[in-house]
Amino acid sequence: MHTKNSIPTRREIEHIGIYTPGKPVEEVKRELGLQDVIKLASNENPNGCSPLAKEAIILELSHTALYPESTAPELTQKLASKLGVDQACIITGNGSDEIIHLLTRSYIRAGDEAIMADVTFSRYETNVQIEGGVTVTVPLIDGAHDLEGMLRAINHRTRMIFVCNPNNPTGTIVGEQELFSFIQKVPPHVILVIDEAYYEYVQDSDYLQTLPHLHQYANLVVLRTFSKIHGLAALRIGYGIMHPSLVQSLMKVKEPFNTNRLAQAAAIAALDDTEFVNSCARLNDEGRTYLQQEITRIGLTHFPSHANFLMIHLNRSGNDVFQALLAEGVIVRSGSLLGYPETIRVSIGTMEENTAFIQALEKVLGA
Ligand SMILES: Cc1ncc(COP(=O)(O)O)c(C=O)c1O
Repeated sequence: MHTKNSIPTRREIEHIGIYTPGKPVEEVKRELGLQDVIKLASNENPNGCSPLAKEAIILELSHTALYPESTAPELTQKLASKLGVDQACIITGNGSDEIIHLLTRSYIRAGDEAIMADVTFSRYETNVQIEGGVTVTVPLIDGAHDLEGMLRAINHRTRMIFVCNPNNPTGTIVGEQELFSFIQKVPPHVILVIDEAYYEYVQDSDYLQTLPHLHQYANLVVLRTFSKIHGLAALRIGYGIMHPSLVQSLMKVKEPFNTNRLAQAAAIAALDDTEFVNSCARLNDEGRTYLQQEITRIGLTHFPSHANFLMIHLNRSGNDVFQALLAEGVIVRSGSLLGYPETIRVSIGTMEENTAFIQALEKVLGA
């Protein structure tokens, strides 16, 4: 038993909750005594990662006694040439989660406002609040960002805007023209963060290629990650692309060795395997189409997703369905934690996993 602790935490974090991740397979097996469990809860890649990345990790294992290069120069150089941007515009992070943290750490002062959708990826809000910033939320319209509403929310205290495109948890995208016109209207003193964690899954042509506009808009930041289509979520590596002066500010606040050797080596190798990325995008498309058709057949609806997950409207408690699916060995995300209490969010799995999910869902809904 510990003695009583009266050390106060910083006021800013008193009311912040601890992040609840998707339930791990191991935990569900242990707690429910199940043998077969599938996880469709954290938008991971069901096909794993590229064999080239695996080889690179194995080779790099012999260097684990050495610190990694602090700024991941080989990786940023390769990304720069692949993306057609200057290397000085890229910073790598311990997941793109860390880039969000570095942005708010560097730019949000107490009382500054940050505009984001209600609902969107929860780490924007948490990181803004940790710094003592104020979150201003603009409701989604039919699951999609209301960019006009976000523009109207800008005032002299606005420091940052987050646009998640595709949006997590709804999977919607904003149209190309609409987003470009928004970029043009956001004042230059406001940092506009466009989170493209699911970029590689988007097949729709009405989707803005943001990188060619970076050189013209010094306040524009684009986030990408190796956690999703590249299947390297466990290694924690993502990156931000932005004006070199912003990169320099983020460098000041990052930990010296924020991305590890295995992650850097795997990411470098993953960039060579375009065949793997293309095949994952194709499989995801097939899986998403299958799930959408099945959900319609069952009589349910969903948001129009462009990512590797689907948010399904149940017209009943998402929590109840989540719990019942768990008992069937299928882990999804309850919408109650994601701002839509009568939904679940399911990641697109392998065809086998998708079929198992639909079977379990029908059983649970029929019960
Ligand atoms: C929209 C969005 N941004 C960022 C992240 C963080 O990804 P990571 O830190 O693994 O790069 C996620 C993870 O689910 C996400 O959904």
